Formats: sequence, structure tokens, C-alpha cells
Amino acid sequence: MLQVKGLEVAYGQAKALQGVDLEINKGEIVAVIGRNGAGKTSLLRAVTGLAPVIGGEIHFQGKSLVGVASDRITRLGIAHVPQGRLVFADQTVLDNLMLGAYTVREKAKVRRNIDREFSRFPRLAERRNQLAGTLSGGEQQMLAISRGLMTDPPFICLDEPSMGLAPIMVEQIMATIADLKRQGITVLLVEQMATAALEIADRAYLLNLGLVRKTGTGQELLGDKEVMRQYLGVAI
Ligand SMILES: Nc1ncnc2c1ncn2[C@@H]1O[C@H](COP(=O)(O)OP(=O)(O)OP(=O)(O)O)[C@@H](O)[C@H]1O
Ligand SMILES: [Mg+2]
Repeated sequence: MLQVKGLEVAYGQAKALQGVDLEINKGEIVAVIGRNGAGKTSLLRAVTGLAPVIGGEIHFQGKSLVGVASDRITRLGIAHVPQGRLVFADQTVLDNLMLGAYTVREKAKVRRNIDREFSRFPRLAERRNQLAGTLSGGEQQMLAISRGLMTDPPFICLDEPSMGLAPIMVEQIMATIADLKRQGITVLLVEQMATAALEIADRAYLLNLGLVRKTGTGQELLGDKEVMRQYLGVAI
């Protein structure tokens, strides 16, 4: 569904990605893990048209995405839930969801999707008129995910959904992501919280200094002591 070949991203002189190859098949959850500054967000933002690509190729369902505007990429079916959630703090939960549906013309569909998201996250339903900025971190993450799903994307990119959340909330968010797969949505999951992501991932890529250092199934990377110790700094 998504093919990335030799991808290079640079901010001025600084290269964040130096030739990354990655593939995601329809229906998979693919995790990209790595330490701070590894290039995870740069990869995700390159896919969604937000990072400066200086080399390589990105194809989604056969269409080239390099140089395509990010709102066009959304319309092609790729949703992006950014790192740090970035909900509209001064808007209500409901308004955030409606803003997420900006590409959806049919009003009835917007209403149906709002209902679907409220049943996915009943906590959001209870807080529909609350300002998003006053939600807890976990609730804001739920809202960010739901907002991304308002366009019925076949493909969703999630950038560190577990950031700053308590373990129980991380578990709930990961369970929600596993549900997305069951609903037929393909997932690109960027995470520093490697174990949680690898547990639900079909396959994973370990990034370090802008290069893919390891790839394999989620289970293979989970069981790889070198990955855990050397690249992720997990004591084992
Ligand atoms: N807008 C930018 N301008 C200049 N340099 C940037 C910019 N965005 C990222 N970088 C640099 O690119 C490199 C990769 O950053 P990136 O945000 O992709 O890493 P990351 O793996 O997502 O890290 P984190 O886990 O901290 O979110 C870093 O060295 C970072 O400083
Ligand atoms: Mg990042």
C-alpha cells in the first residue's frame, strides 16, 4: 500500500533521513521505533507531505506522493495524527471532530462518523462540549485519533500516541490501534515506547540516525537484545 525507497529528508545541511526503505502492506500495523532524533517524525511527515524530501520516492497505492500538498495527501486517504496531539485547544471536542471532517461533504456522513467516534471513545461523548485544551492527556490523544478518523482514511499515521501517558492509558490506546486494524485500516505507528508498539505490530523498523538498522516482525524485534540495549537503551 505504501512504498518508501531511498528516502532522504534534510533541514538545511542537517540530514534527518539518509536513504530509508520501507513497505507497508494493506491491513498491517507497521511500527517505526527509535530514540529521540532518530528521524521517526521526519519519516512520517515526509509521507504526509510536511517534511522537506531531497531524494528518494514515496508511493501510496501506486501514486507518487513526493511534492504533493499535504491536504491532497489527506484526500488520497492518508490521515496523520501528529506528535503532541495538537488538538484545537480553544474549540470543543465536537468542533475538533467537525474540523477533522473538513474534506467530507455529506453532512449525514459527518454525523455518522461523530457517532462512531463517540462509541469508540465514550469519554469523548461525555465531554463533547468541553474545550479540548481542558481534556486530560489521554483524552486529548483519543480526540486526536478520532479527529484523524473523521475522513474514513484507509491508512493512518500515528506519531507517538503514547507520549506522556500513564501505562494503563498506553494500553488502552494500543488496544484501540489494534482495533483499527480489525476494522481494515492500515497503520503506520511511530513510537519511542518500543515494547508497547512492537506487541501490536505485524512488522517493525528500527531507525537510528536516519537509517533503518533492523527490520522484522514485532516479535522478532521484541526478542532482539541488541535492539533493546543498544538502540533503545532498555535495560535487559
Ligand atoms: N524543522 C526542523 N528543522 C531542523 N531540524 C529538524 C527539524 N525537524 C527535525 N529536525 C532534526 O531532524 C532530526 C530527526 O528529527 P525527528 O523529529 O524526525 O526525530 P524523532 O525520531 O521523531 O525524535 P523524537 O522521538 O524526539 O520525536 C533531529 O536531529 C532533529 O533535530
Ligand atoms: Mg518525533
